[in-house]
Amino acid sequence: MSLIIGCGLIIINRDFIMELKIVYSNIPLTNEKLEAVVVFVTEDSDLLGSGLRALPGALKKNLSTSLKLRVFTGKKGKSQHLFSGYAKIPQILAVGLGKKDELDAETLRRAAGKAGKMLTALKANTVGFVVTSLLQDAVETDAGLVLAEGLTLGAYEFNAYKKTGDEKSKSKSVIIQCCDPDNLTSLKALKVGKIRADGTNLARNLGNTPANDLKPKDLAAEAKKIARQHKMECTVLEEKDMKKLGMGMLLGVSRGSREPAKLIIMEYSHQQAKQTIAIVGKGVTFDSGGISLKPGKNMDEMKFDMCGAAAVLGAMEVFGQVNPKLNIIAVIPTTENLPGGEAQRPGDIVTAHNGKRVEILNTDAEGRLILGDALSYVVKEFKPDAVLDLATLTGACITALGHFTTGAITNNDALMEQVRNAGNISGDLVWQLPSYPEYGESIKGKYADLQNIGGGDSGTIIGGLFLEHFIDKTPWVHLDIAGTSWNVKHIGYQPNNGATGVGVRLLVDLVQKWKPLS
Ligand code: BES
Ligand code: MG
Ligand code: ZN
Repeated sequence: MSLIIGCGLIIINRDFIMELKIVYSNIPLTNEKLEAVVVFVTEDSDLLGSGLRALPGALKKNLSTSLKLRVFTGKKGKSQHLFSGYAKIPQILAVGLGKKDELDAETLRRAAGKAGKMLTALKANTVGFVVTSLLQDAVETDAGLVLAEGLTLGAYEFNAYKKTGDEKSKSKSVIIQCCDPDNLTSLKALKVGKIRADGTNLARNLGNTPANDLKPKDLAAEAKKIARQHKMECTVLEEKDMKKLGMGMLLGVSRGSREPAKLIIMEYSHQQAKQTIAIVGKGVTFDSGGISLKPGKNMDEMKFDMCGAAAVLGAMEVFGQVNPKLNIIAVIPTTENLPGGEAQRPGDIVTAHNGKRVEILNTDAEGRLILGDALSYVVKEFKPDAVLDLATLTGACITALGHFTTGAITNNDALMEQVRNAGNISGDLVWQLPSYPEYGESIKGKYADLQNIGGGDSGTIIGGLFLEHFIDKTPWVHLDIAGTSWNVKHIGYQPNNGATGVGVRLLVDLVQKWKPLS
């Protein structure tokens, strides 16, 4: 059994990733010695109006000169590195918040992300940021949480494979001090923000790790590691177990690869939990398309086809630390989709875990196959009150919604409302697509009960409706993260390229604000 040995370690080679430590202080900034300070400035109010009274005089003077000379304006999305002229805190990272009355949590998270990006470029090991009432008033939750989250997300870099020269010297550890003389926030809020961002960054690391170093067995090892650290149950089903359980769809996809498929099951439970929710993530560690081979151009991007699994693992890592009062079952079907000599063929008919027979018309529509078996398994074995799945399911979702919004299909409006709300709070935005039964007509099978692709149009909806055949009426939301899981541009806390860790904070906010479905 090579299941656990050494795996997972290469994924998070911490030597090459900046470590942030966030500490809390309510000593006035005038008594502090720091290498730099992050200040958030609005476009339309002076420094005092921004609540930056507490800045040391000399620092304030230089900052206001920069504002007067319009070296820096406070516009949304803008930032500027300034020298302060104040020996104890020589550098200022000024970040714009835009208009004062338009300020909200997402703006603040993005501004903090921008500051985080500047931090990775800066040669400083101790940095402060100032929480003011302006910032606190802008958010419903705790400004400290949003700021710590944004900073940690923005500072993220994936350097694990750059072991030479410059890149190596960048790796460092930075202490970020939250300067809060008015006691507006708390150490706990900072910690929770950091935990949420670290969970997201874990998902990013998993997503960015190339497929030669991240196989199904590595996802299983990562799950075991998370479970061990946070006292959760973790079971990994092998192909022989899947055979017994009749998971013909997952096994069918796995046939073309020598790497054995795994079905990962993690169980988090809380003594006071009244409900159980299941989260299922697509874990195709590489999607070549199989016999229905994808074109060569950009095929490398198919290493991101496990980002649903990454989101689930990242969220479980967070749940283990914030202890929500809910039982959570995480299920990850994971396999490669390769065109080996044993690979399944178009035209093959397989039997799913719930007994339905499915004709494979395109081996590249594999996500729905492995998810179908996983969904059927989790609703049968655990009878959850709700089930969510996250998957890089269709290229069509990128055509429809781009990289900015996740597409959703549901059978339950109340659950959808909670997911949408969690999206708005977390910044992982979700948009529901229609799911009228007419869309599902085209996957009724010619030779079997179902076929795995439809006619051609509305591919994202059809992919979702295929999954609905495997949830047995459980309240369900399917999230197509094909676009949102990687390559999101121009958002302060998102990396300039690669995996975003989408879904982690969405799941955390959903769970933490959970209202039982009646
Ligand atoms: N992994 C892809 C979906 C995808 C495509 C994600 C591009 C991110 C970027 C999925 O397995 C797939 O190949 N879907 C097919 C479905 C089709 C055959 C019905 C697709 O989108 O082309
Ligand atoms: Mg195989
Ligand atoms: Zn595919």
